[in-house]
This record gives sequence, C-alpha cells and structure tokens, in this order.
Amino acid sequence: MYKTISCDVAIIGAGGAGLRAAIEAAKEGLDVQLICKEVLGCAHTGMAMGGLNAAIKLPATTAGHFKDTIDGGWHINNYPMVKAFTEGMPARIMDLESYGLIFDRLPNGELYTWRGGKQSEPLNVCVGDYTGREMMQGLVDELRKLSVPYNDEFFITKILKTTDGVAGAFGFDLATGEYVFFRAKVVILASGGAGRMYEVTTNAASNSGDGYAMALELGAELIDMEMTQFHPTGMVFPSSARGVLVTEKVRGHGGQLKNSKGERFMERYQPKLLELAGRDEVTRAIYQEVEEGRGSEHGGVYLDVTHWPKGEIEEKIPDVLEQYMVTGVDIHKTPMEIYPSMHHMCGGLRITVDAETNVPGLLAVGEVVGGVHGANRLGGNSIAEGQVFGKRSITAAKKQVKKRVTHLDIPGKLIQEEIARIDGLAKRKKGNDTYELEHQLKSVMWNKVGIVRSEKGLKEAQTEVRKLAELAKNLRVKVPSRERNKELQDTLELHNMILTALATIEAALLRTESRGAHYRSDFPERKEEWCKNVVVTYKNGQLKTHTSEVIR
Ligand code: FUM
Repeated sequence: MYKTISCDVAIIGAGGAGLRAAIEAAKEGLDVQLICKEVLGCAHTGMAMGGLNAAIKLPATTAGHFKDTIDGGWHINNYPMVKAFTEGMPARIMDLESYGLIFDRLPNGELYTWRGGKQSEPLNVCVGDYTGREMMQGLVDELRKLSVPYNDEFFITKILKTTDGVAGAFGFDLATGEYVFFRAKVVILASGGAGRMYEVTTNAASNSGDGYAMALELGAELIDMEMTQFHPTGMVFPSSARGVLVTEKVRGHGGQLKNSKGERFMERYQPKLLELAGRDEVTRAIYQEVEEGRGSEHGGVYLDVTHWPKGEIEEKIPDVLEQYMVTGVDIHKTPMEIYPSMHHMCGGLRITVDAETNVPGLLAVGEVVGGVHGANRLGGNSIAEGQVFGKRSITAAKKQVKKRVTHLDIPGKLIQEEIARIDGLAKRKKGNDTYELEHQLKSVMWNKVGIVRSEKGLKEAQTEVRKLAELAKNLRVKVPSRERNKELQDTLELHNMILTALATIEAALLRTESRGAHYRSDFPERKEEWCKNVVVTYKNGQLKTHTSEVIR
C-alpha cells in the first residue's frame, strides 16, 4: 500500500540549494513538493560556519571571483557554470537579505567581507561564524511565508523513470512508515554530499551519498568523484568531537598553524600565502608534519589565536570559542589542536548551467553536483553556489514541466519491487550487521582513499568495499517496522554510501596524477594531459569510468 502525491516538481533535500529551488518554484507558480530526511531547517547547510562568497564589494570583482575559483579548482572546473555562479552571486546575497538575514556589517553600514584561502580579494560575506545556521533560518522563513508544502523526516529511496524520463520519487515517512510516491514531472536532487562514508568528517550524518547512488542507478553521469575535499582544520580531541569543523575564518583572521616545535610550518610549504593557501595544500602540509613526527599530543597540529587582540575572538569566532571551551580548552590561552577532516564532495552529477542532467526530467543542485569546484573548492563557494543554481534550476524545471503536459505512467511493478526491497530488510531473520559494515567502510575510506592515495591502497580499498557490497546484500534489521526505525534507515543509507564509495575509488584509480584534493603518492606531479574530468556511470550493476574534456 502506498499513497500517491502528484506535483509538478519534487525537490529531494532541504539544505540551502533545495530550499532556494523550492522558494523559486513557488514564486514561479509551480506545484512543488519539498522532501527531506531531517526535520525542516536541520540540514547539513546549517553547520557551515565561515561565510559565502560573492564579489559584492570592491576590491572584489566577479572576474576575480571567477579566476580564483578556476585557479583553486586547478582548471578542471566547468567554466560556464563558474561564470554563471560568480556573476549571479551578488544578487543572491540581496535575496537572502530580503528573506531577513542580516549579514555582518561595518560601523558605516557596508557589508563586512573577509579573505579566505586562495582568494585574491575578500569574498566571504558572513554572519559571525554561524553563517549556515542563519542562512537556513532565512530560507525556511521565506519558504513558510510562501506556504510551500514540505515533507520532512521523509526518506526518498528511489527515483523512478520510464524510457521517456523521470516519473517521480518514492520513499517512506520516517515517523509513520507510510510509503508515498511523489508523482512529478520534474525531480530536483538536492540531497547533499557523502562525508559520512569517512571515519572523520565535518559532515552531518544525513550526508550518506543518497543522491549519487540514486542518480547512478538511474543512468546519470557523475564527474570528479575522486575530488573529495578535506578541510584542513577539524577538531582532534576529545574523540567525541573528532572531525568537527573549525572554520577557515580563523585562518582568514590571522590564526597561525604551528607544529610541536612551535614552527609556523606553512612558511616552508607556501611562503607567500601561508595559512591562506588552498585547502588541498594546507591539508597536505598538516599531514606531512604529523607523518614526520612534528604533530601534537593527539595526532594533529596547533591552530593558534592566542595573539589576537582582546575581544577579537568573541567578535569573529564565538562558536569556535565555545566548541573548545566545552572541551575544557580556552583558546584565548591555549592553541587549538586540529587535523584535516573530510569535508566536501567537489564532484557529483554532471549538469548544464541550468542544472539539467543527462536524464530527462532530472535536475540537480548543491553539493550533489560536480562542476563548479573542479579539483578543489574555495572555502565559501559551497553554500553560495547552491543559491545561484537553486534559483537557476527552476527556469529549466518550468520549461520541462510545460513540455510534459501529463505525468509519465510508471508500471506499478517498479514501485512494488522497491517496497519488497525495503520490507525484505525488516523481515530477514538472519544477516549481516549494518553498523559493523559501516564501521569497516569508514575505516577503508579514511585510510586508503584519504588525503594521500596510491594504486596499491586504492586497489585494496576497491576489493574491500566490493566485499562490503556483497555482504550488504544480506543485511538484517532487528525490528520489523518502518516507524521510527533508525536501523532500517541506516541500512538503506549504507547501500548508498557503498555505491558512492565505489564510484569515488574507481575515479581515483583512473586519475594517475595529483591535482587538487586528489593526491597520488605514486603519481605526485600534476600533468597537463590530465587537465580533464573523470566521468563515472553505472550500467547492469557495473561502474564504468572514462575521461571527458573540460567545458570551457
Ligand atoms: O571553514 C569554513 O567555514 C567552511 C566553509 C566552507 O567549506 O565553505
């Protein structure tokens, strides 16, 4: 038994990009349904701290923002997407202000902006060091003013299509267990990243790669999946806080990285940009310091703000101050211990500048998409680009809805098969344990598909994750119910993480060079002939990779 809800557009995911798309869809008069796994307003976007980039104030210019983004991405970005993003961004800041967000300002009323890693001029617009939280608040307020129908705590497990294109999305209500088919003319994937497949991550648990897996199964192309970005500064201690983000805003305001000898080691790696080198470069420098025995007590390095003028910590980084204070560390007096933490999937669905994928009726926005960031993302570009492409996706959605006069009919058998898959998990009496397998997956990804990779490690990871994929065919869920059954949700998410992990490994094996977030110890140089994208597809249960020219 399942319920059907018909709409023009179903949006899967209610982080910054999904919310922006939903707002635009409603304003454009489309019949929209927004669906998200978390309680509305609690998506991972809320964990973004430092800011969002826009060339909104001189000396920053859109041309400079374009160049920094391409240079930061080591030239495999989709250039037209970067152009649309950087040119579109100032107006999106104004939209957010019209939703009630109040960005930090100078005493004269001008917007306050700060310069992050690899930025030629200051591009970050912010609200303290809790920009994501404030942004979510503004977007949710606007959504509710427009009375957009939303289905929160709802898990989409499959997107369905016919030979003509997407017909809708299917899943169940995590609270009641009710199955629902969202019969839609267009589906917009805005389901976020996959940080949870790593042992150490800044990501919320909801980032389980659902979008990549569902899109691959649907026949969509993914690009740049090997470009998994590690944020240089995550907490290392206590273990319960391991991986928690320490915003780049700290380094953007003079935070200094030091090793156990007290050396400001970035002077050796990047003497010009120092702590404001690219995230990829700072991450590897920290890795090397620790590997060579100059790490801190708990296996990281130090991020020092003890020299900041009085009041500056409270004003600029109040959240960071508090997140260390609750662990017993007063950052006024003691340097923070940090280590890189898996942060962002720079790759994802291949889209056009209007968010269209190669599957008719499927659009995608936000972290689940590749193209803007290339091989390495600039801090502040993620929650920003979601605003531009969230809005742009609706122009394409409107056209597709207009063309598709009626909904596509999906054979009921396809929905029954999905119901059988989900119910089958809860009915199985014996089988493997989800959490045991998830634990193994995280460990393999962190140790063998991490900051430094090699063919040997990647091949081992491939074998181990393929084995996990086999074991995951025989998982059992202890309680045979769909109502508030976290184990059932985690089991379905594990399937998505495993497929996303395999796509990442395949892409990483193919790229036999080092570029941006992808560093191969066996191929440490960047090579001109590799200035291209790796594309991953999935057919008949097999992942395939090939290369593709960069779109300029
Ligand atoms: O460091 C940060 O505040 C993170 C920002 C980002 O990844 O864009």
